[in-house]
Amino acid sequence: MTIVNANIRFNENGTPIATQFEDLYFSDQQGFDESTHVFIKNNKLLVRWENWEEQQFVIAETGFGTGLNFLVTMLHFEEMYKQTDDLGFRLHFISIEKYPINHADLSKIFLLYPQLKKYSQPLLEQYPIPVAGCHRLNFLDGKVILDLWLGDVHDVLPKIENKPLGLVDTWFLDGFSPHKNPEMWTQHLFENMALLAKDQCQFATFTAAGHVKRGLKEAGFEVQRQPAHGLKKDMLVGTINKSADALSRLPFYTRIPATINNKKTNVAIIGGGLAGANCAYSLSKRGVKSTIYCQDNGLAKGASGNAQGGFYPQLNAEAGHASQIHALSFNYASKLYRQLLDQGIHYSHQWCGTIQLAFNDKVAGRYRKLIENQAWPESLIHWIDAKQATTLANVDLPYPGLYIPQGGWINLPELVAGLIKAADSNVAINKKLTSLVRVNDTWRLTWQDGSQSEADVVVMATGSDSVDCEQMSQLPFRLVRGQVEAINSQNELANLSTVLCHKGYLTPAWRGTHAMGSTYVKDDRQCDYRLTEQQTNLTMHQQALAKCDWIDDIQPTVHGRAAIRCSTPDHLPMVGAVPDNNKQLIQYHDLYKALPANHYPQPVNHANLFMLCGLGSRGLTNAPLCAEILTSQILNEPLPLSSHLLDALNPNRFLIRGLIRRQG
Ligand SMILES: Cc1cc2nc3c(=O)[nH]c(=O)nc-3n(C[C@H](O)[C@H](O)[C@H](O)COP(=O)(O)OP(=O)(O)OC[C@H]3O[C@@H](n4cnc5c(N)ncnc54)[C@H](O)[C@@H]3O)c2cc1C
Ligand SMILES: C[S@@+](CC[C@H](N)C(=O)[O-])C[C@H]1O[C@@H](n2cnc3c(N)ncnc32)[C@H](O)[C@@H]1O
Repeated sequence: MTIVNANIRFNENGTPIATQFEDLYFSDQQGFDESTHVFIKNNKLLVRWENWEEQQFVIAETGFGTGLNFLVTMLHFEEMYKQTDDLGFRLHFISIEKYPINHADLSKIFLLYPQLKKYSQPLLEQYPIPVAGCHRLNFLDGKVILDLWLGDVHDVLPKIENKPLGLVDTWFLDGFSPHKNPEMWTQHLFENMALLAKDQCQFATFTAAGHVKRGLKEAGFEVQRQPAHGLKKDMLVGTINKSADALSRLPFYTRIPATINNKKTNVAIIGGGLAGANCAYSLSKRGVKSTIYCQDNGLAKGASGNAQGGFYPQLNAEAGHASQIHALSFNYASKLYRQLLDQGIHYSHQWCGTIQLAFNDKVAGRYRKLIENQAWPESLIHWIDAKQATTLANVDLPYPGLYIPQGGWINLPELVAGLIKAADSNVAINKKLTSLVRVNDTWRLTWQDGSQSEADVVVMATGSDSVDCEQMSQLPFRLVRGQVEAINSQNELANLSTVLCHKGYLTPAWRGTHAMGSTYVKDDRQCDYRLTEQQTNLTMHQQALAKCDWIDDIQPTVHGRAAIRCSTPDHLPMVGAVPDNNKQLIQYHDLYKALPANHYPQPVNHANLFMLCGLGSRGLTNAPLCAEILTSQILNEPLPLSSHLLDALNPNRFLIRGLIRRQG
């Protein structure tokens, strides 16, 4: 779905009006008080928070608009947090917006609320590009998470991954007035609110329209009128009583959390690369400290050892599942990498943009289609002609192409070290895991040096060595060796100022060398540097950039690095619980019969064993959001991606797809 920004004008009091609906975002000069009255007070948030015993409190809202409700909620949450020293739970705010306000208008609107600047500023800094789907934003050092879903509530709500006992503790039913926005206030909306609600979930809405009241009742809420704010007369509040037998939609893809004692949980992360570092970082944002174990004599010695990795998403004209995951992950990673820098975490990088060269007619046709389909916002990717390409790259580039302004390159080992520093994780090097055995509800880990450790939760972030782990041995990993050259900076190449991508990639110089990559050799686990592959890299660049004289002048340097990528048959990572393959084969052996979903049980996994593997060739783009998904699953939080995209990352998907295709 293409996302269109809100069309805004301001009235004489400076209050924003959405011209698409001819309605105010909030009452003239009373937005703050109205928001507090309708949503905070009438949902009894402060009282409920005082006695809240779960790990997170989940609010879901229809219509993010200016974010005022969110900011006001965060202010109250932080005040209470400070008063009580530590409330002991996180605030998770889910909001859905069809027409996001653009950054410039939002900045102007926030001038009306200087008392909220502490919260609106980080919102502006993280505000997402207009790509449909879930965008996860972090506030107050991880104490508040905002999942901002861009799209129509009717499309989005069915895509939010529900939990067997529901997900939402409180609904903020906002949106313009029902008579100005009748398409939103439908029975479908109320039914979906009820589906996502937990038992005793409350709601509040500013309207008291009869059909809203009746519709919510029909969906299962008990509804009452309450005095509204200001000149308005009534508003509605209510609660839902739900039995515990609600079923999730596709039981075989249910994301089962860890059974843990939260902050005291002993989490072992196996793997000192990008996957492990991102998992440690995400967990640390929830106060969960982990230990990273790495078999090498230092961190980032595997695939994550490259000095310059290209940072960009792989987008196509059809905006299929993989592209959607790439776009959302790229946006998430961009924000996270910049936040790290703001926190004083250093890693070498350049946000120098990335050009995807239309180096032949076929590729140019594909790229043109991508633009014609308007699948992606211009701020993410746009067409450039050869002149613009030459200007951006600062070398002669007689090809048009696609430009990704937020792209660039990153030094992977420094990023890994930075993430682990920010996470304050324990690190144990020269620790090769040789066996993993479940003993009395914990994992016993045996190391090559003969020593043993115990962990409540284990996260496998083992890259290409995942194939050697007994519990993951039936998963269809694809190992692909790759070699990247470190080319001495020379002649015109020295001027290159953006990352160039075609079949391979070439970066601007860092400390006198350019990364030129990379080869793809299947099922080869040797990491020696090879002259034959140096030639492959050079030839690939000479062919793709055949119209550039400077490419033929490049004198190669016998210097570079090879490592093994861990990929999968559909080129998407595997993120989630490690499936118990043999048990799931039995559980789902008759999936091909397509019986109703409730015929099937929830999947059996290896208890408290999780994985983030299969990052393939796009680890920089995908690792941060994948780690966030995994952390949210482990801790039983709302998940930051649509159900269908989560399913596309589920480690058991290959087994399930195989069983569905089976002929009896
Ligand atoms: C040549 C090449 C070029 C690439 N270019 C790019 C690029 O331009 N952009 C991009 O985004 N991505 C690129 N990639 C991909 C990217 O590097 C990977 O996706 C990413 O580094 C994978 O991270 P990882 O943590 O999953 O794996 P790794 O970095 O391989 O980490 C795995 C870790 O697990 C440890 N481990 C494994 N088994 C055990 C065990 N039994 N006990 C203890 N520790 C264990 C290893 O020692 C290692 O520390 C490239 C990869 C290659 C090979
Ligand atoms: C009154 S404003 C919300 C105010 C907001 N909660 C705040 O704090 O500023 C209503 C919002 O609902 C959005 N909206 C309207 N219809 C929608 C739909 N079908 N799906 C998602 N958002 C919708 C509008 O674009 C608008 O931003």
